[in-house]
This record gives sequence, structure tokens and C-alpha cells, in this order.
Amino acid sequence: AAPLRLGLAGLGTVGIGVVQIVQKHADLIAARSGRAVVITAVSARDRTKNRDADLSGFAWEDDPVALACRDDVDVFIEVMGGHEGPARLATEAAIAAGKDVVTANKALLAHHGHQLALSAEAGGRVIRFEAAVAGGIPVIKALTEGLAANGMRRVMGVMNGTCNYILTRMEDAGLPYDQVFEEARQLGYLEADPNLDVGGIDAGHKLSLLAAIAFGTQVSFDAVELEGIGAISIDDIRHAGDMGYRIKLLGVARMTGRGLEQRMTPCLVPMESPLGQLSGGTNMVVLEGDSVGQIVMRGAGAGMGPTASAVMGDVVDIARGVRLPVFGVPARALVVPVAAAVAAA
Ligand code: NDP
Ligand code: HSE
Repeated sequence: AAPLRLGLAGLGTVGIGVVQIVQKHADLIAARSGRAVVITAVSARDRTKNRDADLSGFAWEDDPVALACRDDVDVFIEVMGGHEGPARLATEAAIAAGKDVVTANKALLAHHGHQLALSAEAGGRVIRFEAAVAGGIPVIKALTEGLAANGMRRVMGVMNGTCNYILTRMEDAGLPYDQVFEEARQLGYLEADPNLDVGGIDAGHKLSLLAAIAFGTQVSFDAVELEGIGAISIDDIRHAGDMGYRIKLLGVARMTGRGLEQRMTPCLVPMESPLGQLSGGTNMVVLEGDSVGQIVMRGAGAGMGPTASAVMGDVVDIARGVRLPVFGVPARALVVPVAAAVAAA
């Protein structure tokens, strides 16, 4: 079979992770995909930047839109970030040019996922976004494939590594917020705009994507009840600990009699529970289906290797010929959810 040709937009933490996996595991990926997978062209802002990878074999495009439309690109990988500007323009251009898309960009999908899915599916294209939710944990695959025959009861979890890292480091080491925040930056966890992390917005984006798949609804990020961790002090953490609890930025989505409830807020969780035991940049997603019961998935929610692992898992699926609707059911069949808070008013 002809090689699957990738155009990679973004050469930061995730993009370089993708380059490294493609180079390190070319044979393994070819064997599992049934064809070679190669990067043909890349794009980033600064062509002169020294990056931790050999990019010499790839064509360079200054403009991600041009990259997305190249004839020698079959799959456009968007790992730039941002829900407007180049990420949105290039993704739309890729779909219009007949490319499949793999993205790690939860902000883009939380804001424009429904429209992008409609466009992609109308043109017979796929958009895959495993890396966008809980980094290396294959939760999208679990929901859309393994649990496809379940009525989902509830989806919840800790989905922002930065917040979990900050809260657990403050607790374990008694370190101040600013110092721990800087450590999270060094580890590559932070969004370009860190307020997305500590404000709970990034985790809210992720929850809205899981809710759409779990409940067959259009993505409705605006209806997520959001509160970040900025107001939590070391004293709050200590007092919670004295009572046997830990503070976690916890997301919960469930379909109630009043409509779809989506909350991403700091919560007290019992110290001995799986969520209470979660430390560092680790994520945990809990999926509850009517037949399967409860499934707990735990792993690295951020960072170069785990996130690139998820991106490349999607690429391998495309290379194998897997072509699922973006949110598990065709986008035109997704219903507009009634938000529980609105329904209650
Ligand atoms: P980085 O900031 O490390 O990298 C972003 C890359 O995009 C850089 O190479 C940058 O170029 C390039 N870029 C930004 N704007 C443009 C533009 N206008 N034109 C061309 N290139 C551009 O981000 P991450 O790799 O951390 O994140 C990428 C995406 O993955 C985001 O959507 C993020 O939310 C998501 N994600 C990140 C995770 C992580 O652990 N880091 C985990 C899960 C998802 P240059 O290098 O020249 O500045
Ligand atoms: N900033 C995000 C986090 C990256 O800390 O979890 C992974 O989505």
C-alpha cells in the first residue's frame, strides 16, 4: 500500500513528540498499520528555532493553511493550539481539501467541534482527537468503540494535569502556588495561556467533548459550570486533609431528568478513593455504563510522550482504514442538549 503522508502543524511539546515516535517506531507503525507512515511536511512559527528532533527530511511551510492543502499530505495533524486563528483556519482548509485530521486541540473542538464534524463527515473525512482528552489515556476510543453498546450513566474525572500537579505538590511538599506552577511549566504541562489550566477551562473543554460522545449531544462547552483552582490556598488543602479529603478539580457529566449536567469544579474527594490517591500530572477518567458498570482509566494526561502516543494511535487507526464519525454517531444526528441548570430554572 502507498505510504500514509502526514503534514504536521506545530513543533512544540506535542509536535516534536510526534516526530520522535514516527522516527523511532517507523517499522512497528508500518507493521501495525499495514503501510508506511511518513511525515512529508511541517509548519511552525519560527523556522530557525533549534528543536530536539531531526527535521531535515521534511518540507517546510510557513503557513499552516498551505501545509494543510499540500498534495503530498493525506492527514493533517494540528498541534498548534488555540481555537481561532491558524488552528481553526488550517483545520477547515484541510477538510475542504479532502484531508483527514488528527488534533490534540480540545479548545478548537469544544468551540467548533460540531461544525467541523458536520463538514468533515459531509466530505467523507474523519477527525480524530484522542490526545485532546486526558492525553495518553485512550478514553475516546473506550467511549466510541469499547463501550458503544452501553447507555452511559456518568462520565467524570480529573482531566487537567497542571491543576492536579499543583494541588498535590502544594499538599505533599507544602510549597507555594507560584513555585509549583513554575515546575508544571518545566514539565511541559501548561497551555500557552495558563489561565486555561488553572481557570478550569481546559478541563471544561475536555469534559464537554466526553459528554458529547457519551450522551449523543452536540458539544456544549458554554453550558459547563466552571470554577478553577486559583482561589484554593494551602490552608484549604490542609483543612481538607485534616478531615480525610483531598481537593481535586473534578469534572462530572451526566444526563439527568432535567437535562445534561456538566460541572468542572474543585471538589472534596475522600483521600482513600482512587481519585483521592491521584497525584502529579496524572489524569483519571471514570466511565459508568448501564451494562459495563464502572471503568476507571488512569495515566499521564499531558506531556510529550503520552500526548504524542495518542496522536499517533489515531494516525495508525486512519492508516488501517478505521473511519468512525467524529463523535461516535454522525454529527447530523447529534441533538442540542438541554442544560440541566436551564431546565431547572
Ligand atoms: P507548544 O506551545 O509547545 O507548541 C505549539 C507549536 O505550534 C509551536 O511549535 C509553535 O511554533 C506552533 N505554532 C503556534 N502558532 C502557530 C502559527 N500561528 N503558525 C504556525 N505554527 C504555530 O504547544 P503544545 O505542543 O504543548 O500543545 C499543542 C496542542 O496540543 C494544544 O492544542 C494543546 O492544548 C494540546 N495538548 C497539549 C498537551 C501537552 O501536554 N503539552 C497535552 C494534550 C493536548 P514555534 O515553535 O515556532 O513557536
Ligand atoms: N494543559 C493540559 C494539562 C495539557 O495540564 O492537562 C493536557 O491537555
